[in-house]
Amino acid sequence: MAQVKITETLLRDAHQSLFATRMTMDDMIEMLADIDAVGFYSAEVWGGATFDSCIRFLDEDPWERLRIIRKYMPNTKLQMLFRGQNMLGYRHYADDVVEYFVQRAVANGMDIIRIFDALNDVRNLETAIKAAKKEGAHVQAAISYTTSPLHSIDHFVEYAKVLADRGADSICIKDMAGLIRPYEAYELVSKLKDAVDLPIQFHEHYTAGIASMSSLKAIEAGCDIIDTAMSPLALGTSHSATEAMVAALQGTEYDTGLDLKKLDKVKKHAAVIREKYIENGQLSPKMLGVDASTLLYQVPGGMLSNLLSQLKQAGKEDQLEDVLEEIPRVREDSGYPPLVTPTSQIVGTQAVFNVIMGERYKMVTKEFRGMVRGEYGKTPGKIDPEFRKRIIGDAEPIDCRPADLIEPELEKLKAEFPQKYYEQEEDILTLAMFPQIAPKFFEKRAAKKYGVDAEHADRENKVHPV
Ligand code: CO
Repeated sequence: MAQVKITETLLRDAHQSLFATRMTMDDMIEMLADIDAVGFYSAEVWGGATFDSCIRFLDEDPWERLRIIRKYMPNTKLQMLFRGQNMLGYRHYADDVVEYFVQRAVANGMDIIRIFDALNDVRNLETAIKAAKKEGAHVQAAISYTTSPLHSIDHFVEYAKVLADRGADSICIKDMAGLIRPYEAYELVSKLKDAVDLPIQFHEHYTAGIASMSSLKAIEAGCDIIDTAMSPLALGTSHSATEAMVAALQGTEYDTGLDLKKLDKVKKHAAVIREKYIENGQLSPKMLGVDASTLLYQVPGGMLSNLLSQLKQAGKEDQLEDVLEEIPRVREDSGYPPLVTPTSQIVGTQAVFNVIMGERYKMVTKEFRGMVRGEYGKTPGKIDPEFRKRIIGDAEPIDCRPADLIEPELEKLKAEFPQKYYEQEEDILTLAMFPQIAPKFFEKRAAKKYGVDAEHADRENKVHPV
């Protein structure tokens, strides 16, 4: 048994899970040197929702954020979360755009790219994996963990073998809903260690209150790396507390070797952040508690609150139980998709319609039709052809990798990029992923930098990207 390694999530998943990814660069910058001094295996600092949040809410350039973090944390591997062919946006992108994104992320300092797909369709990871390997990054391929009659431990082990075959450098068990129980974690990690010769990383959420127990059992089964968050931003919808896990393992064969005194320095910064975001109303103390209902219903906490608000809008709050019973049936019909963004919303909304319309699939959402048609990739289970026909009508089912239907789009994006916004080549990717909000962000960025609007800015760099 070797030392257990720690990935600190304070700068990405912890604040994404607790206060909608609103931590600003100004708040981060003061603690970067102290985080770097701890000796973490890696720090997750980018990707997921951080990119969207930067340009939508914080008026921050996400690429600049990455460069600053890289500069202040020269000794720690930087890690990001990447949604495969969806990158950090909300649709499938052409391969050349995915390749370009990965290239720019690595060029700006990214070391480890955690790549996952909501449906665990490996074809949606292929391009990102190849691109990351080409750029010399560490490819961590993630299994989206979920529960269903189809999702046995052996099912996940088979998927891990596929990921290993495709070139993953390590495997992550991504339990985004915090559903995995300690002895399941033990069995899953044991079988993964037997099946693939790769480091295993365990990603949990504390939502249901069992995460640190599951992490410990995963470690006993040979898990190499765990994700944790510094205590002021741990627990609740976030992760197990870093200091608690480090202390728990001290003096054992799993000892992380990290120094609690160095961690305490980071903790002091994080405690200030916690107070600040509680005071400004962005961090609700409700998020810091345990919500065990997710264990009962086997749906992520965020999905449960979405369902409730949808039912409320329809004046049908009393039908929550019916919707929760309908969810497994909708999942069965649609090939047992894991419940993670965006499939959790797709399944949840369809289940709500099935219940409040009083007839199943009387009304079908565009997204549900798309998923059944194959627009998001292949679902883990088979979809009955008759059901598919009923949902998609005369539309052609998609059996190929969805991105095979997308023409290369990078040259077009470059050619059409409005010159008045151009500051750096990465701007093309920002606009590609967020065409609605990126122009507003570019305007504000120009105003901040030049004191005038983007049109009238006197840029030193007038070179057009093409
Ligand atoms: Co997470």
